[in-house]
Amino acid sequence: MQSDAAPAPPAHLVVVPRGPRLAPPAWSALLAGLPSAEQHRLARLQRWEDRQDSALGWHLLRRLAADLGASVRRTPTGRPVADPPLDVSLSHGGGWVTVATHTGGRVGVDVEGPRATTPALARRCLSAGELDWFEDAPDAAGRQERFLRLWTAKEAYLKATGTGLGRDPRTVALDCSATEPRLGGAEGARWGFRSSNPADGVHLTVCWERDP
Ligand SMILES: CC(C)(COP(=O)(O)OP(=O)(O)OC[C@H]1O[C@@H](n2cnc3c(N)ncnc32)[C@H](O)[C@@H]1OP(=O)(O)O)[C@@H](O)C(=O)NCCC(=O)NCCS
Repeated sequence: MQSDAAPAPPAHLVVVPRGPRLAPPAWSALLAGLPSAEQHRLARLQRWEDRQDSALGWHLLRRLAADLGASVRRTPTGRPVADPPLDVSLSHGGGWVTVATHTGGRVGVDVEGPRATTPALARRCLSAGELDWFEDAPDAAGRQERFLRLWTAKEAYLKATGTGLGRDPRTVALDCSATEPRLGGAEGARWGFRSSNPADGVHLTVCWERDP
C-alpha cells in the first residue's frame, strides 16, 4: 500500500489558458479534429468562450490518449472515458482548461475561477465539518479561498467517480485544512488529491484513485 505522505500523482495534468477567440481557420481546424457528436454539441453552445474551452479540452484529451494508443469517448452521463487502463477527466473555468489522465485507476479534475461565495451557497454544497472550517476563516477573502479549495476537491472527486453533481455534494466530507485535501472515512486512503493555483484566484484540484 502507498504511503499517504507520498502519493503517486496522476500520470499527466495539462493546464492551458483559453486565450483569445480563435480566428475562423484555426477554429475550423480544431473542430475538424473532433468526432461529429462533439461538433454538434459544440454548435449548440451559445458563448464562444464555452465552445472554445470545450473544444480545446477535447482536443487535448484526444491528443494525450492517442499518445498512449487509446481513444476517448463520452458516456451517456457526459463523462469522458478512455480505453482501459487509461482514465481521463476534463474541466474548464475562469478562462482555464485542464485535462488529467491516469493509468492506475479513475481520475477527476476541476478548475474554478474567482467567484463570490455566499453562506447560502456554502450551505447547499458543504458537509457539516466543511461548513465549520469555511465559517472559521478570518474574513470574506479567507472564506472564498476555503470554499474554492473545498469545492474543486469535491467536484474533482465526484467527476472521478462519474456521478458528478447527480450526487448531493454535502454527502462528500473533505478535510482541506492540510497541504492537500483528504476524504474522510474509509475512502480517505483510496483517493489522492493535489491542489494548485494556475493564476491568482484560480483554484485547481485533481483527484485520483490510488488502488482500485
Ligand atoms: C459534470 C459537472 C460536475 C460539471 O461541472 P462544471 O463545474 O459545471 O464544469 P467543468 O468544466 O468542471 O466540467 C465539465 C466537464 O466535465 C465532464 N463531465 C460531464 N459529466 C461528467 C460526469 N458525470 N462525470 C465526470 N465528468 C463529467 C465533461 O467533460 C465536461 O466538459 P465538456 O462538456 O466540455 O465535455 C456537472 O455539470 C454535473 O454533475 N453534471 C451532471 C449532472 C447529473 O448527472 N445529473 C443527473 C440528474 S440527478
